[in-house]
Amino acid sequence: MPTSEISGFYKKSMEERLALVKRFAGLSAEESKAIGTTGALDPALVDRMIENVVGAMPLPLGIAVNFLINGRDYLVPMAIEEPSVVAAASNSAKMARAAGGFEAHTTEPVMIGQIQVVDVPDPQAARMRVLEIKERILEVCNEKDPVLVKFGGGARDLEARVIETHRGPMVIVHLLVDCRDAMGANAVNTMVEAAAPVVEEVTGGRVYLRIISNLAVKRLARAKATFPKDAIGGDEVVEGILEAYAFAAADPYRCATHNKGIMNGVDAVVIATGNDWRAVEAGAHSYAAMGGHYGPLTTWEKNRDGDLVGTIELPLAVGLVGGATATHPTAKANVKLLGVKTAQELAQIIAAVGLAQNFAALRALATEGIQRGHMSLHARNIAVMAGATVDEVDEVVRRLVSERVIRVDRAQDILKEIRAKK
Ligand code: MEV
Repeated sequence: MPTSEISGFYKKSMEERLALVKRFAGLSAEESKAIGTTGALDPALVDRMIENVVGAMPLPLGIAVNFLINGRDYLVPMAIEEPSVVAAASNSAKMARAAGGFEAHTTEPVMIGQIQVVDVPDPQAARMRVLEIKERILEVCNEKDPVLVKFGGGARDLEARVIETHRGPMVIVHLLVDCRDAMGANAVNTMVEAAAPVVEEVTGGRVYLRIISNLAVKRLARAKATFPKDAIGGDEVVEGILEAYAFAAADPYRCATHNKGIMNGVDAVVIATGNDWRAVEAGAHSYAAMGGHYGPLTTWEKNRDGDLVGTIELPLAVGLVGGATATHPTAKANVKLLGVKTAQELAQIIAAVGLAQNFAALRALATEGIQRGHMSLHARNIAVMAGATVDEVDEVVRRLVSERVIRVDRAQDILKEIRAKK
């Protein structure tokens, strides 16, 4: 067995690393090429983005159409491997247009940085002492990022709590930082590290963690849309969606899937714009669980006319400057394609896409079920998995769908029949 203990792997060139990996795993030339191809990314850039790079992992990029948000039209880039998501978002956006599209808002782009203080003899009094020197702490933080301050951002406020843990009480200080068009992790982490010695001195305790919180409750995005009952299939569809929503609101097993459908749309835009989708995911699900009950990120209700009204609210820590958004050529082009000027505008679009995605999923589930709409796309994947060539795919898909048997073994049999006839 070859060993995975490879010293100096990081010092090798991308080609050398790939050659090692190829040997280790017995990859074919074709397989190693599939891993090593970097597409639109300059290999030298990829090699600097993360460590131990051997290649890139491209995702399909689709464009969702029909989005009208705050009276403005957008074409929305979505990077995702799952069929139906882009089509579903586009369809929902079309139906929402009938009543003016989406209205979206955001709070100020404020992130929370946490400072953990332990071994504080008088935690309640220490909490007060921290609050009393708020201005001094904010000053220390803002000195660390004059550029952010110049652009209208910076450390704005301070909060402090005493929490009970199984290792005793801790003083937790929250630094609130307006990150403007940055996602903010770097700025916030630098600031909490700078503030820590001052906090330590005034509390008389010991500071351990100094890090951003992904539960970005001060950086929320909201969107709302009305789906006219006549545009979506009538009263029965409205009722079906309300039943589906009630199910999600009452049951965490369903709610996880309900929110997953929302994140299909959210993540696809977050990824396409080079943003940190793990941060957004962590924020969304922890926000959904705030108050001790895991709930839906959307709401659905009926207005006086019997039309369906949906809302969404979630933390969206996305930026336009720094990180991959600034270096990844596809992400940069996608931001230009969207035409957004601020991170808040981007967050508004993402919220609208999340709402649209949820509407599409609930409508499909409450009517014909999700599989029917997925069938031909699923059949296409199955045909390719069975080995169909570009010329054969359409015929295999047609037969799988008409027989309503979407299985690889059946696709292989159909392929044999097609090839025997040639
Ligand atoms: C599939 O990726 C997403 C759905 O399961 C969402 C939902 O059930 O609401 C269709």
